[in-house]
Amino acid sequence: MSPSTHHRSSSSPAVHAAVVGLQWGDEGKGKIVDLLTSRYDCIVRYNGGANAGHTVQVGTERYALHLIPSGILGSGKINIVGNGVVVDPEKLLDEVDGLRKRGVHVGDNLRISDRAHVVMPYHKEQDAALEELLEKKSGKSGAGQIGTTRRGIGPAYSDKVRRSTALRMGDLLDHALLLRKLETICGLRMAELEALGASVTPLIPEQLAARFAAAGERLRPHITDTVYLVHDEINAGRSVLFEGANACLLDIDHGTFPYVTSSNCSTLGIPAGSGVPGRMIGKVYGIMKAYSTRVGGGPFVTELLDETGNRIRARGREYGTTTGRPRRCGWLDLVAVKYSVMVCGADAIACTLLDVLSGFDELKICVGYRRPDGSVTDRFVPDAERMNGFTPIYETLPGWERELTACTDRDDLPREAQAYLGFVENFVGIPVELVSVGPERSQTFESSQRFAAAH
Ligand code: GDP
Ligand code: IMO
Ligand code: MG
Repeated sequence: MSPSTHHRSSSSPAVHAAVVGLQWGDEGKGKIVDLLTSRYDCIVRYNGGANAGHTVQVGTERYALHLIPSGILGSGKINIVGNGVVVDPEKLLDEVDGLRKRGVHVGDNLRISDRAHVVMPYHKEQDAALEELLEKKSGKSGAGQIGTTRRGIGPAYSDKVRRSTALRMGDLLDHALLLRKLETICGLRMAELEALGASVTPLIPEQLAARFAAAGERLRPHITDTVYLVHDEINAGRSVLFEGANACLLDIDHGTFPYVTSSNCSTLGIPAGSGVPGRMIGKVYGIMKAYSTRVGGGPFVTELLDETGNRIRARGREYGTTTGRPRRCGWLDLVAVKYSVMVCGADAIACTLLDVLSGFDELKICVGYRRPDGSVTDRFVPDAERMNGFTPIYETLPGWERELTACTDRDDLPREAQAYLGFVENFVGIPVELVSVGPERSQTFESSQRFAAAH
């Protein structure tokens, strides 16, 4: 290969960017990726699996994407499911079929890493069986469980790390190899399921191999070495947007362990999950909803178990895109957000769901934690046990009455809403560059001038 193929064809180097959630997921990453897609050539998912649920609203049409990057709704883009993702092939095919039925083009604009690991039906059984076992052991519903999406994410990543029981998307393209691997896996897996107390339906290697080789055949045109693909695109001068699934506080290393997911969903997962060095990413958008939510178990210092929490849930329609579970709701926790900005290297914030906060007399923002011994800290503690008994230290800001859904500019916002955003910028130290006031594409505006003006 001549050295010239490694030089960009355009004169100005493309700036690659990332979109990442700064809280516990469901910040509106799908909406923001869809919006930014027009500025990039390739959209790359680097982590997670069908535990993600990214909603994109185009006019009155709502799309829920789980495995396919939200860039699929933009035309002429390459959408890549990177090696760091765990792929449930049948779910992926359902998603492809569902999009095609609605007239969305899915063809060579969707590429899947041959090294992405496969989520098999037994992973979902293991996921559910372990959750049920933990629930029984704790004697009280909910306690002890992680509250997973039961999409098989943890068990699939466990197999990846264990190596000898793992399957990768490339394996689905070789029926004989797939069968050989499943012959080893099935017996062992049945014993493991039995040990978890699951009612085990026999895992028959031939049946599973036939079923997943068939899925592999349908996916064959999409499966490729996406690491070379993305570097070829970059070398040809094209720009890449990385789409984070889940969020920084669910990161396996940096989130509220063990109430996290099983991948590096902060931007630190990008290099490993896509094969692109972190230093090539020029811009990181941290997505922050204007309050906090989380689904499943784990620490949530600003959680509101009262009418105010219910009101936020109702106004924000806070029910899971993937599981339909009601999301736990609470005030904005800036200690947590500032920590995520640090870990992810975020350059700018996109503040979403600001419209949900209309109609409250006052709004609280968490700026510190009080430990059970009465001492205070402004540092996040990414460990559930060590966060036990933390209570929030709040600043109270005035609320606003007016609905924001028709606002098109930061100056259009009520003074109190502008002050709310200003408070975030001053506390976290980076600008709020995008503001979202509704689910639709048009309900978003840029506001990059403000931070500079305030300093
Ligand atoms: P993601 O997982 O981060 O992509 O977020 P989800 O799609 O799971 O959840 C965000 C929800 O909020 C979706 O239903 C979006 O349509 C909706 N949404 C996004 N931005 C806004 C906004 O600014 N205002 C309102 N009201 N809804 C929004
Ligand atoms: P998006 O991309 C919200 C949570 C689950 C559970 C924990 C572990 O839509 O923001 P898992 O099934 O991953 O083993 O569950 O992580 N979780 C999410 N919560 N949004 C998500 O994704 C999530 N992905 C995982 O609720 O508490
Ligand atoms: Mg979601």
